[in-house]
Amino acid sequence: MENENVGRSIPRIGEKAPSFRAVTTQGEINFPDQYAGSWVILFSHPADFTPVCTSEFMTFASMEKDFEKYNCKLVGLSVDGLYSHIAWLRTIKDKIEYKGMKDVEVKFPLIEDITMEVANKYGMMQPGESNTKAVRAVFVIDPKGVIRTVLYYPLSLGRNFQEILRIVIALQTADAFSIATPADWQPGDDVIVPTAGSCGVAKERMDTKDGSLKCYDWFFCTKKLDKDTIFKQLEKK
Ligand code: BEZ
Repeated sequence: MENENVGRSIPRIGEKAPSFRAVTTQGEINFPDQYAGSWVILFSHPADFTPVCTSEFMTFASMEKDFEKYNCKLVGLSVDGLYSHIAWLRTIKDKIEYKGMKDVEVKFPLIEDITMEVANKYGMMQPGESNTKAVRAVFVIDPKGVIRTVLYYPLSLGRNFQEILRIVIALQTADAFSIATPADWQPGDDVIVPTAGSCGVAKERMDTKDGSLKCYDWFFCTKKLDKDTIFKQLEKK
């Protein structure tokens, strides 16, 4: 019997990123092994020479240095072929001026995936949306090759790349300082201390009066963590 889930699995948070070798616009890559020790964002786009994707590539490529600061590399993918990728990236650099961005060179690798092998491994083909184009997927993968965040957007919706950068900074801050980040957190905002795991700690938290904690209740306490402390720590890595 045919397994209807073949090609439909979706890698989950906390799992090792599925491995593959692929041809890209920057030569062959061995993923994720070649990226061990770095954070990496693997993302897909539906098709070359399309407007939303062009706006996304120009934005992402323009922010590559912002991601580098956090030891984070970018890898793109669509189910188009290598020569289409090369032609599209050349067009972007030579002809497209958009929102003040021009002469944008996409230096990160763009995977060719005509067989959809990689797209299927990463759940990027979602037939309810399209049988022939990958959805806009984003996998944030840590230096140990573990998936830390997964996003899927439909074809019509361009992604917010400031949010993707915020995700990388928030994950690295949570790892470095053993905290969590509240809704809409930005570096410099208060962070959440781990919820009290015993009655004693709950009482201690509520009794703390030295101003180091702000407790909304015993299970919801925040503390200050300034931007400089975060950036000094993250840039060391
Ligand atoms: C776009 O990038 O503009 C696009 C790609 C596929 C379907 C719809 C829009």
